[in-house]
Amino acid sequence: MSASFQLPAALHDSLSALLGSAGFLTAESDMAAALTDWRSLFHGRAAAVLRPADTEECAKAVALCAQHGVPVVPQGGNTSMVGGATPDESGRAVVILTCRMRQVSEVDYADLTMTVGAGVTLKAAQDAAAAAGLFLPLSISSEGSAEIGGVIATNAGGNNTVRYGNAREMVLGLEAVLPDGRVLNLMRRLRKDNTGYALKHLLIGSEGTLALITRAILQLQPKPARVEVALCAVADAVSALQLFARFRRADPSSIQAFEFMSGQSMALVNALIDGAALPLSEPAPAYVLVELASPRSDESLRTLIEETLGEAVEAGLVSDAVLAESEAQRQGLWKLREEHAEAQKRAGASVKNDVSVPLSAIPALIEEATKACEALIPGIRVAPFGHIGDGNIHFNLVQPARGMDPGEFLARSHDIMDTVAGIVKRLDGSFSAEHGVGQLKTYLMPSWRGGAELDMMRRIKNAIDPECLFNPGKILPTE
Ligand code: MLT
Ligand code: ZN
Repeated sequence: MSASFQLPAALHDSLSALLGSAGFLTAESDMAAALTDWRSLFHGRAAAVLRPADTEECAKAVALCAQHGVPVVPQGGNTSMVGGATPDESGRAVVILTCRMRQVSEVDYADLTMTVGAGVTLKAAQDAAAAAGLFLPLSISSEGSAEIGGVIATNAGGNNTVRYGNAREMVLGLEAVLPDGRVLNLMRRLRKDNTGYALKHLLIGSEGTLALITRAILQLQPKPARVEVALCAVADAVSALQLFARFRRADPSSIQAFEFMSGQSMALVNALIDGAALPLSEPAPAYVLVELASPRSDESLRTLIEETLGEAVEAGLVSDAVLAESEAQRQGLWKLREEHAEAQKRAGASVKNDVSVPLSAIPALIEEATKACEALIPGIRVAPFGHIGDGNIHFNLVQPARGMDPGEFLARSHDIMDTVAGIVKRLDGSFSAEHGVGQLKTYLMPSWRGGAELDMMRRIKNAIDPECLFNPGKILPTE
């Protein structure tokens, strides 16, 4: 793959002088990793890959690109599920990586905040908060690679949304570079700030189409003193939701995560992930992973989880359960949940439907979408899992174990996505709960967000980025 577009000589020289050899990459081998998404669904080209060291360098680089009309694709840890950070095939764009903006400059105990650069990985931010005795509750399967800037730009959700909300709820302050190179400084650590349009919230979830996020002030929480985790075998989503209702009745404020995994998806984890071992006597049709957390270190949380599970077993909702007895066991149980995306990737080609519906509609979603997909492609492996406590199911489909090659299966992607989307729409849901729109799902926008909503989005884009230079081809379908 080669860059099909040469930067204008003046721009090339200015960027090279500004960013130096660590920040200005044009060799194919240096650019390759930034030009393909982790699912290998999208393969783009770029005229250069930039790695600014700080906001000032980033702003100057963006201003230079704007002067020359060169598109910019912001990219964090490159963990998008929807091709949100991969450039198109024209080769005209430059990709700007945030990986060198890695400062964790401040953890504030009084305000319970931390100030981080966009390139800090989510895991590093969690660790920095923990080292200071505090807790950053955002948790997603890709947290080892995903960077804060991308996490905020995509309003990531994940495992703890049920208690703490999505990324949006954890961002107090934000700094971003606008498409013309100006720096928008919203670094205010205020809980209350009713001073006009909420620009911060406009940028959160805008997937790099309006601005490139460079720094953030995150809201932290006190670190829980006690955490309890259990993996439970259940018959289906109905039982999982009844179990959720029991935990909510027992103590809603203690639920930190409530995750669902189908038997099919768990079987792939067991078969394809090193070190994954189901600690139950036999495989089940479905599983729930529940995590409770409390600021109290006494035995009350343990009693709560044991009693609630005991009653659920007696009521026939749970057929088997295991409680973590140590931090190592807790991590072992979480590994069984966090490796589903990786296991599905190893199982062959897969189609992801990151959907949400009202909680009450989840059983209908799973039942109807399973039947419809099995009718569409005989032998398809229906492997749903996800954040059932938020109504967010990853209704993922893996290619049949035999008789169909990956290309043939992926050629049916839109058929599968449309089939699932039709059911989700009837159930009043969303076609993208937490993964965003990227380039994969832009085609769904007119039918789902059409009329005044899409029109307003286009006007906002046009007001902030009139030349359409920032992350072209993402979120908004071409007219
Ligand atoms: C997860 O929760 O693990 C992901 O968002 C994954 C996926 O859809 O594959
Ligand atoms: Zn998820």
